[in-house]
Amino acid sequence: MRYKDISDIEISSLLEAIYDTYGYDFREYSQAHIRRRITNRLSVSGFENVAQMQSHVLNDETFASELLQDLSITVTEMFRDPTFYRSLRDNVMPVLKTYPFIKIWHAGCASGEEAYSMAILLQEEGLYDRTTIYATDFNQLALNRAKDGIFSNKMIKEYTSNYQLAGGKESFSRYYTSNYDNVIMNQSLKKNIVWANHNLVTDSVFAEVNLILCRNVLIYFEKNLQNKVQTLFYNSLINGGVLCLGSKESLRFSDLYDQYSEIDTKQRIYKKKY
Ligand SMILES: C[S@@+](CC[C@H](N)C(=O)[O-])C[C@H]1O[C@@H](n2cnc3c(N)ncnc32)[C@H](O)[C@@H]1O
Repeated sequence: MRYKDISDIEISSLLEAIYDTYGYDFREYSQAHIRRRITNRLSVSGFENVAQMQSHVLNDETFASELLQDLSITVTEMFRDPTFYRSLRDNVMPVLKTYPFIKIWHAGCASGEEAYSMAILLQEEGLYDRTTIYATDFNQLALNRAKDGIFSNKMIKEYTSNYQLAGGKESFSRYYTSNYDNVIMNQSLKKNIVWANHNLVTDSVFAEVNLILCRNVLIYFEKNLQNKVQTLFYNSLINGGVLCLGSKESLRFSDLYDQYSEIDTKQRIYKKKY
C-alpha cells in the first residue's frame, strides 16, 4: 500500500483512539511522518486497512507498544554533528562556568548517547561535579537502554571520530570498557545523570535549568506543537539560559524568537534574553 492511499480521516481516527486509550498524543505530529510510519506498520503487520489495525491497537497492548515504537524515531549517536559540540565547548561552556550549580535538560534523549557526550564534555571542562543532567524521553524502552549505557562496538569508530572532530581532549577509549560486541560507558559518566520518562506534549515544566538540548525532536512536530513545546522550554530556562536545537530545526519561525539572542546561528544555539 502506498501511503497516499490512506485517508486523513483514517489517520486522525487512529491517533484519537491512541490518545483516548493510552494517553500518547500524536495528533499534532507531522502528518508526513505519521503517515509513513503507519503505512509501514500496516504492511509489516498484514492488516488490510487502518480501521482493522485500529481495533487491534485498542485491544492488544503489545501491538500498541510496537506502534508507539514506530512513531518515535530513536536514531541518535555520540557527538552527533561534531561542529555543534565544538561550538558548545567554545561558546556555551564559558557561560556555564559562571554558575555554582548547573542543570541541563536533554529533552528527547533517545538511548542516551547525547547525554553521555555531554557528560564527557563537562568532565573535560571540569564542570561535571557541579552539574545535574536530566535526560528525558517518552519512550521507556529507549530510556532503559540509555540507563544501561551499553552501546554496540560497531559504532565506536564513528563515535571516536566524532569525538575528535568535536575537539575531544583525551583518548575516547578512556570513557568506556569493551565487552565482546559492546562497550559499557564508565560509571563516572552516569553518576549525575537522572533518566526520566517525560512527554513533551502532555507533561509540564519539572525544573529550572541553565541549558536545554532538544535536538532532532521538533522536526517531527507540526508548527503549532513546536510553539507549544518552545513555550515549555522558555518557562524551564533561567534568564540567560541556553537552548540548542538540531541542525534542521530553527527558532526563527517560532513565536518566541524575539525572546532569544543567537549564540551560534548555524549550530542553532540560542540564549534566552534577560
Ligand atoms: C531522533 S531522536 C533524537 C535523539 C537525540 N536528541 C539526537 O539528536 O540524537 C528523537 C527522540 O524524541 C523522542 N520523542 C518524540 N516525541 C516525544 C515526546 N512527545 N516527548 C518526549 N520525547 C519524544 C523520541 O522518543 C526519540 O527518542
